[in-house]
Amino acid sequence: MTLDAQITVIRNKFLQELKLAKTSKHIERLKVNYLGKKGSLQALMQLLKDATKEDRPFFGKQINDLKFEISSHLENSFKRLALEEETLKLENEYIDVTLPGRKHFWGRYHIVTLTMNKMIDAFVSMGFSVETGPDIDSDFYNFEGLNFAKDHPARDMQDTFYISEDLLLRTHTSNVQVRVMENFKPPIRCIAPGKCFRNETISSRSHVFFNQVELFYIDENVSFADLFATIDQFFVKFFEKPIETRFRPSYFPFVEPGMECDIKCILCSGQGCSLCKNTGWLEVFGAGMIHPNVLKAGGIDSEKYSGYAAGIGVERLAMLMHQINDIRLFTENDMRFLEQFDL
Ligand code: PHE
Repeated sequence: MTLDAQITVIRNKFLQELKLAKTSKHIERLKVNYLGKKGSLQALMQLLKDATKEDRPFFGKQINDLKFEISSHLENSFKRLALEEETLKLENEYIDVTLPGRKHFWGRYHIVTLTMNKMIDAFVSMGFSVETGPDIDSDFYNFEGLNFAKDHPARDMQDTFYISEDLLLRTHTSNVQVRVMENFKPPIRCIAPGKCFRNETISSRSHVFFNQVELFYIDENVSFADLFATIDQFFVKFFEKPIETRFRPSYFPFVEPGMECDIKCILCSGQGCSLCKNTGWLEVFGAGMIHPNVLKAGGIDSEKYSGYAAGIGVERLAMLMHQINDIRLFTENDMRFLEQFDL
């Protein structure tokens, strides 16, 4: 085949292959095949050596022209395809920033923890320190040291889960009182938050498991007035509005005198509603002046010192605060309930 014909064959073959090239990668491959070191044009250049002296400049120019033609074709196609590919890539990566985001679930504190923390914060801001006691305790700290004699009928007030003759699940956070007295000298001003257990029938109003915050203050000349002022201040901090309180005589072996404390109904402000069962008042906790026998059990001179104590139910306050009508909701782990409470 003459050189002339070979040039034509290569040009046609190139143009055909160019038509089939659909991606920039194909173009790159064509470039190697035609213009590369071992490419078709290089082969033509080899053949040029065999041409006669007269023919050489003519064919040389033809080959060069073809080389130019091929490279400009390749360059144009490459640019066009690369641009198309880039556009397609951008289209695929397109993010619609107006789409509403997917909501992530963040963990949160349980409503009881939130309530307890709010109570703790209020008391700490009033100068109370925080102490804790064991959930499993001895009869002494839960009862005996708190002036419950062995056969004291008041033990029946608190149905107890016994683990052994002497060990039990504490029925109240008052078990921390004597423990703290043994370890600290007055003035003592502390709170003791924690879990309590009672062997009661579970209903919407009572549960076998609940939480309390105990508070007590022991010093010289501590009186009822200190208790009233502290309680009033606590409720203002907790409910973030002025709250009227009322104290009624009651009985607990470890306080004398003992009281039950009510607050003016937070829902109807005393007018009477279903929350307060039309009484206008809500019963919230027990309190009183610490019995001399308890101070003695804790090694504190009851002639010199006096103190008050109170135990507040955490679930009870949470129920009042959020108008929750069933204490069982706190332990059922129903997300629809739990998700409602944020702080
Ligand atoms: N511990 C008592 C209860 O659980 C409450 C209380 C605490 C009463 C301190 C008086 C003083 O019922």
